[in-house]
Order: sequence, then C-alpha cells, then structure tokens
Amino acid sequence: MDPREILRMKRDGERLTPEAIEAFFEGYLAGDIPDYQASALLTTIFMRGMNAEELVPWTRAMLESGPSLDWQGIDGPMVDKHSTGGIGDKVSLPLAPALAACGVRVPMISGRGLGHTGGTLDKLEAIPGLRVALDLDALRTQVAEVGCVIAAQTAELVPADARLYALRDATGLVESIPLIASSILSKKICEGLDALVLDVKFGSGAFLPDVERGRELGRTMVDLAKGFGLKAVVRMTSMEAPLGRAVGHGLEVIESLDCLDGGGPADLRELVLVLGGELLASAGVTADAQAGAQRLAAVLDDGSARSVFERMVAAQGGDVEVLHKRERLLTAPHVMELRAPSSGSLGFAECRHVGAAVAALGGGRKTPADRIDPGVGVVWTCAAGSQVSAGDVLAQVHHAGRGLEQAEDLLLRSLKLDGPAPGPLVAERIA
Ligand code: URA
Repeated sequence: MDPREILRMKRDGERLTPEAIEAFFEGYLAGDIPDYQASALLTTIFMRGMNAEELVPWTRAMLESGPSLDWQGIDGPMVDKHSTGGIGDKVSLPLAPALAACGVRVPMISGRGLGHTGGTLDKLEAIPGLRVALDLDALRTQVAEVGCVIAAQTAELVPADARLYALRDATGLVESIPLIASSILSKKICEGLDALVLDVKFGSGAFLPDVERGRELGRTMVDLAKGFGLKAVVRMTSMEAPLGRAVGHGLEVIESLDCLDGGGPADLRELVLVLGGELLASAGVTADAQAGAQRLAAVLDDGSARSVFERMVAAQGGDVEVLHKRERLLTAPHVMELRAPSSGSLGFAECRHVGAAVAALGGGRKTPADRIDPGVGVVWTCAAGSQVSAGDVLAQVHHAGRGLEQAEDLLLRSLKLDGPAPGPLVAERIA
C-alpha cells in the first residue's frame, strides 16, 4: 500500500483500516517508510484522533513488533502498575515487593525521568551497583525466584514504540490520547499480565494536568486493555502536591524504605494500598480491593515486603548494605533550609516547579544522555495542608552547589500558602 494513500485516509477523516495500519508498521519498521512520512501520519492522528476500531489494530501492530514475555512454567498471577508520572512518585519501589510478598508476581518494565518528573529506574539506580538493564532470561529468572523485578525496557520489547516515541518527542506530538494509550498499553500487554492498574495523575504536577483529559486517557486505556482481554483498572490520583515528603532519587529511596518498614508519609502508604489492593482483587487473590489493601498493609508492617525488596536489590546487583545504612544515600555535600515567606497552610500553586527545582540542582535531564546526580533533592518538613508560620523551615534542599539559586526561586514559586485545603489524593475509579 502506498504510504501516501495511508496519509490521505487519515488526513481526509477516514478510519484507518487494519490493512493500512499493518502496511504502515511493516513499511516503517523495514525502513521503507521514512521518518518524515511517519511523522506526517502521527501529526494527522494527533489532530484527528483514533477511534477504538483503529486503536486496537494500531496497538496490536506495535505489540507484534517484538516478542511478548512468556511465563510458562512460572505460576501465580502476573500483575503490574503504571503511573502517568508525578513529582515524588516512588510508589513502584514499595509496591512491587509488597505485591510479591502477597503471592503475586510483578514483571515491572519501567522508565527513566525526562522533563519535570523523576523515573523509577533512576530512583533505583541511586542504590550503588543496582542494574536495571536485564535481558529477557534474567527478567524471567528473577520473577521466578524473587517474585518481582523492576527493569528497563529492552531493545527487543516493543521496538515500534521506542521509534515512534522518539519521533513524537522530537516533533511535539507526545500529548495525544490515542498515541499515549497505545504506547503505554503495548508495553504493558507485552508483559503477559493478568491484571494491570493505571495511576492516572491530574493536577499541576501531572503530565496531563487537566482532570478531564486524564479521565479521557483513563477511559481509553481501560477500553483498549479490554480489547486485548487484559483486566485494567484506572485510579485517578491528585498531583496537586508532591507525593510524600521527598523529591530526588536517593531521598526517595530512603522514603520508600520507610514505607517498606511500615511507616513513611501517609499519602505514599495510601497510594500503595489503594493501587495494590486493586491488583490483588483483579488477580483474584482477595475478594475485593479493600481486603487487598489490608493484605498489603500487613506485609508492609511485618517486614515481609521489605525482605522481598532486599532480595530484589541483591538480585539486580545492588548494594544491600546501603539499605541498612541509609545515610550512605545522602550524598549531596550541602543542605540548605527553605523558609516560609509568609504564614498559612502549605499548598502548591505549581507543583511541577518542585520537579523543575530538583532538575535544576542536577537531579533531572534535558536529553536522554544527560547524567543525573542521585543525591540532590528536596525534603518537605511537613505535609501539604499543615499550618506554617513565616520563617518556619519548609524544606531541606540537598544540593551540590549547582543550580541552587534557580531551584530556590522555583521552590518559592511552587508554593501557595493562602490557598484552600488540598482535595482528596485518590479520586475516581474507571473500570
Ligand atoms: N509514557 C509512555 O510510555 N508513552 C507515552 O506516549 C507517554 C507517556
């Protein structure tokens, strides 16, 4: 099929047929369709959208561009969580081992941070020696022996997504609901899951701040997963304030350890229980999500989740000693105190500025090749909604001298001390 005919179809508002979609992916992956024609098609999809009849074959073509994980011989339900990303979102670190401690298996393929949010892989790599680049055999072995793995996308898995995502990123075409849904779901379906929970963030720190757009993405992903026979549940959660108190890679590992020891900030624990509870219920391990949450609370409190986390870190080559001597994760040479400019209740006008502040300190990247400093970051001294007086210490800023002035300015601009109390963390459920 002539690629210009595929382009014409979408340009003129016709539905892309499964044959046209197949022809596009075949030609693009073989190198017969150049990037300029692919980006023209992505642009028309960005403008015109894709309906469910197009989205299923589109996602299938992406999925079939590489192998899927095969769990033959390993029993127990396979589950995973995906988050659209937020500031201080370290949920995966305690959640994956807590789920494994409840008897399900978690083959979590995760991402790196780009822009204002930090990536799970970067957080894990704050643990010295820890490897996230695992091949398919290593993934399989670890899932069988430890019960969970958090690793990077391999070159074999969904190569079509890696290529299309890079093209979208370079051409300003990321924020398209059908393109985001197919990109996320193709990578999750290839994990061979029995259940998936999707944490779709809204609010000023979210990738899609507008709650309506978040809902549309959530609904699209749940319906798309159904088209592949995968049970998916969306929880919409607020990113009006950073999650937990710590933002920055090593600092977030420390906070995750607190959660794995049965403590840590209430909002982090709540999200682990809510998202994990959904998965245990969908996988048929507990009667409902509430019973699932109770089961997870028990494994956080009795040390079994923590012990799986240590086994996961050890299996991936990480230095387990650091998990007992947390001060070794505090590698930034300086700590500055950020003080409240006025009295009021701690709130955030622009939560994304907190992520940008950590990036300015060296904890983020502008391009995928940039190196990040795992030691820098911010730890808020109190939870959003707490009363503070002018001059109180609001946050400890861990830094290495770089970008401090810019970070301080961004942190002060992120604040809103005279606003209303924060809304609920967990909003609606889409299933
Ligand atoms: N995350 C993804 O994996 N894909 C997108 O398209 C956007 C966010």
